[in-house]
Amino acid sequence: MLATLFDWVALVIRWTHVIAGIAWIGSSFYFIALDAGLKANPRLDPRVKGEAWQVHGGGFYQIQKFSVAPEFMPEHLTWFKWEAYSTWIFGFALLVLTYYLHPSVYLIDPQVMKIDVADAVPGAAASLLGGWFIYDLLCRSWIGQETKRLAIAGFILLMAATFAYTHIFSGRGAFIQVGALVGTIMVGNVLVIIIPNQRKTVAALLAGQAPDPIWGEQAKQRSVHNNYLTLPVVFTMLSNHYAFTFSNPKTSWLVLGCIFIASFLVRHWFNTLHTGAKPDWRLWPAAAVPVVGAIVLSLLGQASFTIADNAAPVQFAEVQQIVDQRCHVCHATKPQFPGFAEAPKGIMFDTPTEIQKLAPQIMAQAVKTHTMPLGNVTQITDTERAALGAWIVAGAKLN
Ligand code: HEC
Repeated sequence: MLATLFDWVALVIRWTHVIAGIAWIGSSFYFIALDAGLKANPRLDPRVKGEAWQVHGGGFYQIQKFSVAPEFMPEHLTWFKWEAYSTWIFGFALLVLTYYLHPSVYLIDPQVMKIDVADAVPGAAASLLGGWFIYDLLCRSWIGQETKRLAIAGFILLMAATFAYTHIFSGRGAFIQVGALVGTIMVGNVLVIIIPNQRKTVAALLAGQAPDPIWGEQAKQRSVHNNYLTLPVVFTMLSNHYAFTFSNPKTSWLVLGCIFIASFLVRHWFNTLHTGAKPDWRLWPAAAVPVVGAIVLSLLGQASFTIADNAAPVQFAEVQQIVDQRCHVCHATKPQFPGFAEAPKGIMFDTPTEIQKLAPQIMAQAVKTHTMPLGNVTQITDTERAALGAWIVAGAKLN
């Protein structure tokens, strides 16, 4: 019962995390598009940089953006910050509940690196904060003074982090760490730069002083970074359930690299479209190239196994023994593995027919990729994986 309650807590946290994330990303898309689409109007107050007309939900909206700030403090001012904060808070809680509380299952893979549980969790958590500080320094340094230079340096930093994570943690663990790092950088931008700078502007207005335009410019720079990071961060969270993306550390970091490039191109297409400029359609085929690259890389990353011509056929009895020994602790009606209330993803290997029916999935998870057993906690050997593969290739027969 306790395990089910625990799963409920995790589910409610995940639900909240996703909803907050939708609100955050939605407002990021909306405001970047709004900003890009503003049109100057000489009849308006000279301090107004531009205006936009929009129709939604049966009404017309007229929105104006002030170059720095209005001269007065508006009576009702809406702040956008809790979408970001709550996405991070619930996301981090989920990271702790799933990964940091079960590091040997989800975070560590001895085949990638043998690390101690006591080192893995603090290291993983600290790297999120460390990554934010390095990124923030980069933006504040001379590199950050020029957009192109900063974009290149930021990309190199992202790739370095991805390489490091995929060579230290399990595939799943590495991808979630990349996502958490990018998410932490994004929320750091809101917490440390965007909101404090907006507060400074408001304080200056209240004191009857002219706000420094640099505050707004800094906030805008970070807000644009966040906008470009939205697509990759969502990919890292979703791909976590697709073993072919992360299972091989030799290729997985490059798979993510391709996805980063494709995401930036697609975001760029939308951001130019919103300015009203003629969109550059070449960006779509340009984005398709790295996506195809990611697919090819993931295929190259799958383990190959060959069956010797003179090898004796693998009998089902042998397969059942392997599955009983290496998989059944988790994949059973009543799993014995601590912390599992029910069979993960409903996959159960209680009967021969179930094993036979799931042969293609076994092939994908335990033979072509080494995703299962998670963290290889049950210590399956390569010979056993090959035996499972040979049995499946020969038709997955029960006798
Ligand atoms: C430590 C517990 C554990 C062991 C041992 C284990 N699994 Fe899993 N398995 C899981 C969990 C947890 C998931 C769900 C992963 C997810 O949420 O994506 C899973 C998912 C799966 C899936 C579904 C994957 C998908 O995305 O559809 C298959 C198939 C699978 N396991 C096969 C195996 C096989 C075959 C073995 C033995 C060689 C094995 N598992 C051993 C915990 C385990």
